Amino acid sequence: MGILKGKTAVVTGSTSGIGLACARAFAGAGANIVLNGMGTPAEVERDRAAIERDFAVKAIYSPADMAKSSEISELIALAEKTFGSVDVLINNAGIQHVSPIEEFPIEKWDAVIAINLSAAFHAIRAAVPGMKKRGWGRIITTASAHSLVASPFKSAYVAAKHGIAGLTKTVALELARSKITCNCISPGYVWTPLVERQIPNTMEARRMKRDEVINDVLLAAQPTKEFVTVKQVASLALFLCSDDAAQITGANLPVDGGWTAA
Ligand SMILES: NC(=O)c1ccc[n+]([C@@H]2O[C@H](COP(=O)([O-])OP(=O)(O)OC[C@H]3O[C@@H](n4cnc5c(N)ncnc54)[C@H](O)[C@@H]3O)[C@@H](O)[C@H]2O)c1
Repeated sequence: MGILKGKTAVVTGSTSGIGLACARAFAGAGANIVLNGMGTPAEVERDRAAIERDFAVKAIYSPADMAKSSEISELIALAEKTFGSVDVLINNAGIQHVSPIEEFPIEKWDAVIAINLSAAFHAIRAAVPGMKKRGWGRIITTASAHSLVASPFKSAYVAAKHGIAGLTKTVALELARSKITCNCISPGYVWTPLVERQIPNTMEARRMKRDEVINDVLLAAQPTKEFVTVKQVASLALFLCSDDAAQITGANLPVDGGWTAA
């Protein structure tokens, strides 16, 4: 029997990349799933139906915009109304913008902070009362190696991810006696659409070719010289949901090919 049988997992930003891999891993462990994120109706429905078919669980989709606090509250309320609980909350939605600080568009700063940092606060705030009532919960946020170190031209992203590391510790301490753990996972470069999308901007900002950006910028910091896989991140998230991980809380766990060891 799967370790999450009968439980419900809300995964923000799960129409793509790491979030979709987490949703499928949790469904494989028996959880009902609330998908969220952008995508065409046909693509979202394809992924939602595949989860139900492949894992014999229920999966619903919410288009809630993680930049809007009211829609985040509605996402948690929808999950509780549909399945009776939110047992696992994965704050994963994220965007990136790459630009020198003096040219960084203000609306991009606001969006990166809203989606990568404030959304986690709003979702945790909404989900914790139900978790406390049931005496169990797992909160996991996808941070980044950029929660531990910085890179040039990523001021908003680095600030947001460092913020996630602090939020994670604070929430873990507040909930330490409630059988609710709160951790963040800090991947290095994972080959997903988010990474692919930032290549053109980095090429422009650094005046480099595509191959140079991949090898000399992205993988330059990763001693293994390999991209992390979405499955590797999802497997760690699933482990954090297990009873064996009950004493792991307030942790920021790198999965970064040795990047932050250097
Ligand atoms: N790919 C990497 O190398 C890497 C490394 C470290 C951390 N991360 C983090 O992992 C998380 C997932 O990134 P990914 O690489 O899978 O990217 P991705 O672009 O494949 O997925 C991002 C998801 O967030 C959703 N999203 C974006 N804006 C949203 C909004 N306003 N409301 C709701 N959903 C929204 C997208 O629709 C998508 O489902 C992000 O928080 C990212 O910062 C990624």
